[in-house]
Amino acid sequence: MFYEELSHPIFKLVSEESQKLGFETFVVGGFVRDLFLKRDSKDLDFVTVGSGIELASAVKNRIKGAHLNVFKNFGTAQIKTDDWEFEFVGARKESYDRNSRKPKVEDGTFEDDIHRRDFTINTLAISLNKANYGELIDTFEGISDLNNGIIRTPLEPKVTFSDDPLRMMRAVRFATQLNFKIEETTLAALKSEATRLSIISQERITDELQKIIKSKKPSIGFSILFDTKLLHEFFPEMVRLQGVEIREGKGHKDNFYHTLQVLDQACSRTNDLWVRWAAILHDIAKPPTKRFLKGEGWTFHGHEDKGSRMIKPIFTRLKLPLGEPMRRVRNLVKLHLRPIALTKDHITDSAVRRLIFDAGEDLEDLLILCKSDITTKNKKKEERFQANLVNVEENIAAVEERDRIRNWQPPIDGAEIMKLFGIGPSREIGQIKTALKDAILDGVITNNYNDAHKFVIEKGKQLGLQQQ
Ligand code: CTP
Repeated sequence: MFYEELSHPIFKLVSEESQKLGFETFVVGGFVRDLFLKRDSKDLDFVTVGSGIELASAVKNRIKGAHLNVFKNFGTAQIKTDDWEFEFVGARKESYDRNSRKPKVEDGTFEDDIHRRDFTINTLAISLNKANYGELIDTFEGISDLNNGIIRTPLEPKVTFSDDPLRMMRAVRFATQLNFKIEETTLAALKSEATRLSIISQERITDELQKIIKSKKPSIGFSILFDTKLLHEFFPEMVRLQGVEIREGKGHKDNFYHTLQVLDQACSRTNDLWVRWAAILHDIAKPPTKRFLKGEGWTFHGHEDKGSRMIKPIFTRLKLPLGEPMRRVRNLVKLHLRPIALTKDHITDSAVRRLIFDAGEDLEDLLILCKSDITTKNKKKEERFQANLVNVEENIAAVEERDRIRNWQPPIDGAEIMKLFGIGPSREIGQIKTALKDAILDGVITNNYNDAHKFVIEKGKQLGLQQQ
């Protein structure tokens, strides 16, 4: 039936070797699902009623240049060739201890193996056995769920989730990636079992979260995570964004749903994962900075600074990379109001120069974030805000073209200033450095060595330093 789809030579090969060993073997899981969804997949999972390791070794010997990895403890083996990955596993019956992720694994039948899988759409299998080669085996009406766009567990959802609580995150991830609905009882179990996520390592949770964020419309996933309270298990700061408070008749927007809209809008402009993270985190400090000023209304003064300080603890807890990605996110959160501030009054060259200097390499990303941060429902306003930002962009281009501030450093550095006054690192040296940078960015002196030298000597004198 699906014979034509199995055009890769691996299928015949596995079928032959499996028969020689007297095993029964099937292609299962994601590959079969993706075949029906017409999504390209280069990961192939084979289940064999027999030893996965033995089968993989036999197959490997018939593929030139193939590399075999054996995971004895798990009873699995993997072959890598070109860009394909083939995983072989013996069919098993599996159950987990409720309080740990350590499975009790026993050999099982093909049916046992299919029953212990996560969602009906992932239980589809294709036979590689002589009697019915190429036949689709659809035990749980997976095809019907694929056609109707439904995520459903094959067994009672609590049992499936209790076997591996990470599957709750996977349910949300598949719903987001495929734009599928989670079936009612499965969704109810996500709610009732949400706290079971606590036995899952943060790395595995974050891995699924990243897949949600890489999707076309991550708000689908975040809304489900919030409604089921899965989000509450690992991202309380984001949960706190939700809600509207009204005082003296004045409300503020719901920052959770605003953030989701910003995130989706950022996703339509960029695939860069870290700009997407900046969208998620740009208003993260709004709850802790929220104040009501009598007669005026709500303010979130300083939320960009406090927010940028919250990035490291959040990245650390979520096990996100602390190097360059974190630096970028922190910078974007810190600066996310600056381009908008520029549109308010008359734009001065020095303000533009400062922004270019402070944003550095992150300038384009910052503009993407700012354009995405416009969520007004009023069409006229939206057009005006977007036009203002285009205006800022043009100003930036003009100033940069003339002054080349990007990646710029003042013509005299800290080491030279120390030498000029014959002192080591100190508060004064820091003050002179900052003053020199400000003077050039503000256009008080021009950006050349002689003027900078004169300025440094003068500033040193004011601070009581002697030129050497
Ligand atoms: N599986 C499962 N429970 C898990 C993880 C995986 O039942 N917690 C099963 C599913 O049948 C799945 C198969 O193992 O289809 C392979 O898992 P994996 O490679 O992680 O996912 P895919 O479904 O292939 O999807 P993707 O490649 O998008 O991660």
